[in-house]
Amino acid sequence: MKRLGGVGLLSTEMLSAGILPSENPAISPFLFCTAEEHPISYQLLIADKNYLAPALERIRELGANAVDLNLGCPAPRVRKFGGGSQLAADPDRLKELVAEARRLTDLPLTAKIRLGEKLEENQLFNLCRLLEGEGIDMITVHARLRKEPFCRKPRWEWVGKVKKRLEIPVIANGGIFSVADARRCLELSGADGLMLGRGVLIRPWLFRKIAEEVYSDTLPELVIDRPALYFFFIDLLEERFRPERRLGRLKEFTHYYCRNYAFGLHLASAVQNSKSINQAREKAAAFFIGKQ
Ligand SMILES: Cc1cc2nc3c(=O)[nH]c(=O)nc-3n(C[C@H](O)[C@H](O)[C@H](O)COP(=O)(O)O)c2cc1C
Repeated sequence: MKRLGGVGLLSTEMLSAGILPSENPAISPFLFCTAEEHPISYQLLIADKNYLAPALERIRELGANAVDLNLGCPAPRVRKFGGGSQLAADPDRLKELVAEARRLTDLPLTAKIRLGEKLEENQLFNLCRLLEGEGIDMITVHARLRKEPFCRKPRWEWVGKVKKRLEIPVIANGGIFSVADARRCLELSGADGLMLGRGVLIRPWLFRKIAEEVYSDTLPELVIDRPALYFFFIDLLEERFRPERRLGRLKEFTHYYCRNYAFGLHLASAVQNSKSINQAREKAAAFFIGKQ
């Protein structure tokens, strides 16, 4: 995505604060990043403030440009131990944890939230105000309630309701799959920026298109070669993931990337049924014949 252009800030996947300090960054594909893959924010999944110091120290050593606190994850296994959206629903514990994180790091400290349990503007604002008051530098709002599935239409106007009342930058997230979505989301939310998830798994060049068409950035000319991008992704998997992890990861990516093609399900099922990464590569090459 960095090579395609238009990205302002990258983020890692959520990293458990308890496990992070003992992970080997040289071999963990979730921690490792190249000089090119910056600026990058490391996202912490945390429930207990006692884990902050070693985790933040490790994040600093890794050369992070920012730290993000995950306050939105709705997964039951995460909520069970008091993390993600469960932490967002516990203001006293949250306030202490954020204050401690702020005390421990000079890096930009950001948070990612959902809209909450139900549509309640004051409750949402109180959460954001607490975060702002404790020194959070930027908030990303995934425009869905805690229990809402990813297929549900995002509520971008609800990002706008808090954006209007906060001093710090607010980033809108959820359901941005095209330039038109990006425009509409910015119109409805007034957000200071956009965060993209699945949209750039389908079209890694979407950042670039939004940068050019919405933000009027001038980027060096580039021809997007979709098969070449797919094979480059496989090269990166082979470079960074242990052999037994590569094929599963490729299947996940293909599930998104295949949507670029009218008969993309053929690609997804061919890769799904592959027994090795080389077989997946061959089947993909056969699918791409005559296609760009
Ligand atoms: C496979 C997958 C993994 C995700 N992992 C994380 C994560 O680690 N941390 C996080 O804050 N959000 C995570 N999310 C949520 C996304 O960051 C984002 O909020 C959500 O997908 C909505 O945005 P989108 O419509 O642009 O995908 C994940 C989503 C998906 C589909």
